[in-house]
Amino acid sequence: MPKDRIVVSLGGSVLVPGEDDSEYIRNLARLLIRLSDMYALFVVTGGGRPARYYIEVGRDLGMDERALDAMGIILTRLNARLLIQALGPKASPEPPEDYEEAREVGEEYDIVVMGGQRVSITTDGVAAELAEAVEATRLINATSVDGVYTADPNIEPTASRFDKLSYEDLIRIAGRPTGLAGPSIVIDPHAAQVIKRARISVYVVQGRDLKSVEGAIIGGDFVGTVIGEDGSR
Ligand SMILES: Nc1ncnc2c1ncn2[C@@H]1O[C@H](COP(=O)(O)OP(=O)(O)OP(=O)(O)O)[C@@H](O)[C@H]1O
Ligand SMILES: [Mg+2]
Repeated sequence: MPKDRIVVSLGGSVLVPGEDDSEYIRNLARLLIRLSDMYALFVVTGGGRPARYYIEVGRDLGMDERALDAMGIILTRLNARLLIQALGPKASPEPPEDYEEAREVGEEYDIVVMGGQRVSITTDGVAAELAEAVEATRLINATSVDGVYTADPNIEPTASRFDKLSYEDLIRIAGRPTGLAGPSIVIDPHAAQVIKRARISVYVVQGRDLKSVEGAIIGGDFVGTVIGEDGSR
């Protein structure tokens, strides 16, 4: 029987925040290698601080949003290479550049790691489109917050976390597209639309909490938010 496919959107905020990054990446790789006996894993890496830094400097220099996005994509692919290195021979050696290639490479390797895909789409959007393309059982959004809140918890200290969220509520919380490169939002509007359209089950977890990452991947217990049909777990 073929293995269930799981897509993980791994925020750059989790992979390279500048806090013991290599130790974290090593531990994450160990977990993913263990779980790849049971699941076909597809990881999409975000850009994080390095990408935002380039975007900020490029914007100051007058680059347009498309050019900024193109730089951001390069940074996400560099982040993919860090995880690929830690995964060793279990992972495809090069980040695929499109979904068809990702699907093909997934036939050969237990773990596929890719970065951004095209301008104006965040890596959360890429992960949602990839989950749709490979008919993933679940999409895990591993980010810097432990779930989706009523408002940005870093701005609004009284915000509370949702245990469950319906597709309609996700669309509402994601808001409207800003048109700017490098948005910092838990799930952006385009990703939310793809998730709703393809009826993807999404588990939002704090990516540095590897117990919750494991729980989310196997569909077990974890701290975070489940987004799905009628918002039920
Ligand atoms: N309603 C909300 N619930 C939870 N977090 C939110 C919400 N609105 C905005 N955020 C912000 O979203 C941030 C997470 O998204 P961010 O894009 O910064 O990280 P990422 O996607 O994990 O990493 P990257 O984009 O660098 O790959 C949180 O730090 C939080 O401040
Ligand atoms: Mg993000």
